Amino acid sequence: MSTHPSHNEGRPLLAVEGVSVRFGGIVALDQLSFEVESGHICSLIGPNGAGKSTLFNCLSRIYECGSGSITFDGQPISTLPRHRMAVTGIGRTFQNLALFKSMSVIDNVLVGCHSRHQVGFLRATLRLPGAARIEATAQERARELIDFLDLGAVAGRPVADLPFGSQKRVELARALAAQPKLLLLDEPACGLNHEEVGRLGELIRNIRDHLGITVLLVEHQMNLVMGISDKVVVLNFGRKIADGTPAEVRRHPEVIQAYLGGERAAA
Ligand SMILES: Nc1ncnc2c1ncn2[C@@H]1O[C@H](COP(=O)(O)OP(=O)(O)OP(=O)(O)O)[C@@H](O)[C@H]1O
Ligand SMILES: [Mg+2]
Repeated sequence: MSTHPSHNEGRPLLAVEGVSVRFGGIVALDQLSFEVESGHICSLIGPNGAGKSTLFNCLSRIYECGSGSITFDGQPISTLPRHRMAVTGIGRTFQNLALFKSMSVIDNVLVGCHSRHQVGFLRATLRLPGAARIEATAQERARELIDFLDLGAVAGRPVADLPFGSQKRVELARALAAQPKLLLLDEPACGLNHEEVGRLGELIRNIRDHLGITVLLVEHQMNLVMGISDKVVVLNFGRKIADGTPAEVRRHPEVIQAYLGGERAAA
């Protein structure tokens, strides 16, 4: 099980309370509240346009919440500048891949390592001892993650040369390199084949169990969500319509209605 440190005892790792976000006339999030326990895999599901990515963008401080509050690890997120997020302990992958495509796999992962440990321009340029040590540690961590994600054979190749499924794992490795406490995954199964989705489920479990990282997952693949989640939060038009274990939300009438009424039926 999770090896997450116990300083979180008694309080959730993430608490979203009454968060609303508007874009002109659209209410993308409407008074959303839910909690993520440390060591859990929590999924956020809902039809297209339900507000899932909007919440991730609030958590990453890309969007400002119109109202409400988000508390991460006991600290209100809204007071933190965006560039501090990696240091704070929230990592993410994007619905559309965000990688440096001409750079190698290992260099992309090293970017993630460095988002946590800023060596500083002068120290790096002058090659002071501290910089060399930090660089060596980063290289070692990047190599470990590349092996963990089964990318060892392509570590030196430009990301652009790799198949889509491998590129998605590079993005995951880069997010993990910053050693987050909470990992936000926005549709990691999108574009993967059946077999790759199965392996992704295992991988997300391993990230929680072996790296001790709490996971918040946005995903349309219901088999994946229902198979690995401790808790599922269901959104529809920005509003939470259900929140519970996979078994509880699966039989919730409003959830059935939202999915059967929408274009994507629950698989
Ligand atoms: N930057 C923006 N400007 C204007 N409207 C936006 C913006 N971002 C999101 N929206 C709108 O907010 C609503 C929620 O969008 P969001 O991307 O959060 O949905 P989603 O649940 O992630 O959907 P999907 O499953 O298709 O990724 C949608 O109506 C969308 O058009
Ligand atoms: Mg989205």
